[in-house]
Amino acid sequence: MDLDSLDSTRIPRHIACVMDGNGRWAQSQGLPRTEGHKAGEHSLFEVVDAAIDAGVQWLTVYAFSTENWKRPKDEVRFLINFNEEILLRRQDELHARNVRIRFVGRRDWRVPKRLIRRMDESVELTKNNTGLTFTIAFNYGGRAEIVDAVRRIVDRGTPANKINEKTIARELYDPDMPDPDLMIRTSGEYRISNFLLWELAYSELLFTDTPWPEFGRDALIAAIHEYQTRDRRFGGVDTEG
Ligand code: IPE
Ligand code: IPE
Ligand code: MG
Repeated sequence: MDLDSLDSTRIPRHIACVMDGNGRWAQSQGLPRTEGHKAGEHSLFEVVDAAIDAGVQWLTVYAFSTENWKRPKDEVRFLINFNEEILLRRQDELHARNVRIRFVGRRDWRVPKRLIRRMDESVELTKNNTGLTFTIAFNYGGRAEIVDAVRRIVDRGTPANKINEKTIARELYDPDMPDPDLMIRTSGEYRISNFLLWELAYSELLFTDTPWPEFGRDALIAAIHEYQTRDRRFGGVDTEG
């Protein structure tokens, strides 16, 4: 399947990915779990490229959840260092491709200061870019995001009867971010795992058995193709046909 087979008038504006299955993929090859995370980098950048080529405007990827701190210390340390290293190695290339880098997630004491500095540098470097907005969800939890939004609203002293859906949406980590049109989860797990709970309310969900390290350009294009067969009603009824 190639790009030409897509309906260019129905490209999802925002795709969100749960990059799952790295560890199991590595184990199936007789490798340590961390090799799966390393292999996942290639998939990620193929997906970024394919998204740009397809005309997707927003791509959000789940890199580390608020629950992932439960993993063995070595794996957590690896993931933190690896994310930092990827940023360092890849930010110039993303910048050259006119990609705007952003982050969503909690900036609590568990996230090393150095990583926060790197994140801020990448955001600053690319903030005026006008191509793909590439958002990395790091130390991200959908419930934490809603809790953080509610705290800000309460801090502001907003009266209860003035709170509506827009009030909450405005206080999410990135108020500019449109809701995902398509959410993809790899590796045969059929759950959300606390990803973008508020934002996924009406997203099309696509689950594939392919583990993330085997996902890539063709798989993304196939996913967009599948998206284009879906009928989005948003609670309404079809008026055509
Ligand atoms: C996804 O792969 C990457 C992160 C959660 C950081 P996993 O590490 O969850 O791989 P599996 O699901 O255990 O195979
Ligand atoms: C979700 O995957 C988090 C990321 C991909 C970063 P997990 O592997 O952590 O989710 P569960 O534990 O299978 O639900
Ligand atoms: Mg997993």
